[in-house]
Amino acid sequence: MDMRIKLDVNPMFREFTGEHAIPRAELDSMLPELKKAHAAVEAGRGKGMQGWMDLPYNQDEILTAIENTAARVRKEFEAFVVLGIGGSALGPAAVQQALNHLHYNELPAEKRGGPRLYIEDNVDPERMAALLDVIDLKKTCFNVITKSGGTAETMSQYLIITDALKKAVGDDYKRHIIITTSQTKGFLIKIAQREGYETFYIPDGVGGRFSELCPVGLIAAAVTGIDIRGLIAGAKDMDQRCASDDAYQNPALMDAGLMVLAMRHGVNMSVMMPYADSLKLMADWYAQLWAESLGKNETLDGKKCHVGQTPIKTLGVTDQHSQLQLYTEGPFDKALTFLKVESFRATTAIPHGCDDIPTIAFLGGKSHNQLIEAERKGTEYALYKSGRMSQTITLPEVNANTVGQLIYFFELVTAYSGALLNINTFNQPGVEESKIAAYAVMGYESDIHTAKREEMKNRPEPKAEFQF
Ligand code: PA5
Repeated sequence: MDMRIKLDVNPMFREFTGEHAIPRAELDSMLPELKKAHAAVEAGRGKGMQGWMDLPYNQDEILTAIENTAARVRKEFEAFVVLGIGGSALGPAAVQQALNHLHYNELPAEKRGGPRLYIEDNVDPERMAALLDVIDLKKTCFNVITKSGGTAETMSQYLIITDALKKAVGDDYKRHIIITTSQTKGFLIKIAQREGYETFYIPDGVGGRFSELCPVGLIAAAVTGIDIRGLIAGAKDMDQRCASDDAYQNPALMDAGLMVLAMRHGVNMSVMMPYADSLKLMADWYAQLWAESLGKNETLDGKKCHVGQTPIKTLGVTDQHSQLQLYTEGPFDKALTFLKVESFRATTAIPHGCDDIPTIAFLGGKSHNQLIEAERKGTEYALYKSGRMSQTITLPEVNANTVGQLIYFFELVTAYSGALLNINTFNQPGVEESKIAAYAVMGYESDIHTAKREEMKNRPEPKAEFQF
């Protein structure tokens, strides 16, 4: 079976969908610009913050080390907890949901590929308390993931967990902690070296949201029995499929061109709608990649701009009953991406029944597999009929290879789109601002935080009449 994922962009074009979509001539006259964007991304391959483009090729030894560690963790522990946020959590969660059983944690141990997995990407106090209620510290391994090695959310979790571990297992606590961080920057590497924790490195040129295919994502995946070599092979396949600078031969370049043209037409929202629960969190992962990479206020040559496209995470069929009304009749400001699965890993037959009610009896003898695809086609048609742009990415099945292809495809689309927008795709100054402000609010004393605290006092006093 051909495992290549497929992209159908017909409904993005005016000739197919009507006046609110993109004229083919516009895409065709953009081809030289697309060649330049492709060249810019290729020129950066493996350099600066584009180390993620090397990941399909340079990880042989790392994969073996991860597999060995994963085998140890599977033998010694009942639960595996990822402590991380943003790019250090969204990828591991998306891949876990895509490739393991949808109720993985609830399965009996012998039916799981490894320990139960928890991904803790928030500092809601109730959540940490809840986690501690359901894990046995003596049988739990923690993977602390932070590229910068100083993120407050993750490091506060680290402090809580090491304290709890020391109380529960004494000097043995070090065996329960695996660190994933930068080899060269930040505090966590220093802590890891001092404590002697097992440590994996996030390459310097791999930013958080581009890090799923390095140890950030691969450790949790391997621990729960996911074929990490399949993920990497899929990424490599996609990289090679996207070698051409001709958008008609390079699906990621075509997609980037259409999305950026859509933005130029005022389509400032990108709706990701997987028709598969297994791909639901892929939409969360994509949302960070798309929003943090493209939401920028300055071009590479220092000009003011306010670009980007708001990602919206949805789930088909579920959100047909919640958001589709807006998408078909509201403003023409959205482009939809469907994720379609050709062959699901289960078949759910619908039994016969309710013979006296023809519309319900009609469902008998069919399957959920047929129904979910019929609903997707129905939604695609409803969007077409109301003149809305959409595109469909088809996964022949959801497996490690196709998920690797999908992840790398979106990474490339994002990089090409950033080049077309002439922005720095790989930084996130807006996120940094909130990190500093949060530390300032907590009362941290340092030049930058004290100054930030002072700056924050300059806001207007809230008026009582606007507070209820
Ligand atoms: O994409 C990014 O770089 C960010 O979203 C980070 O992943 C996030 O802020 C967490 O940072 P760190 O991995 O340094 O803890």
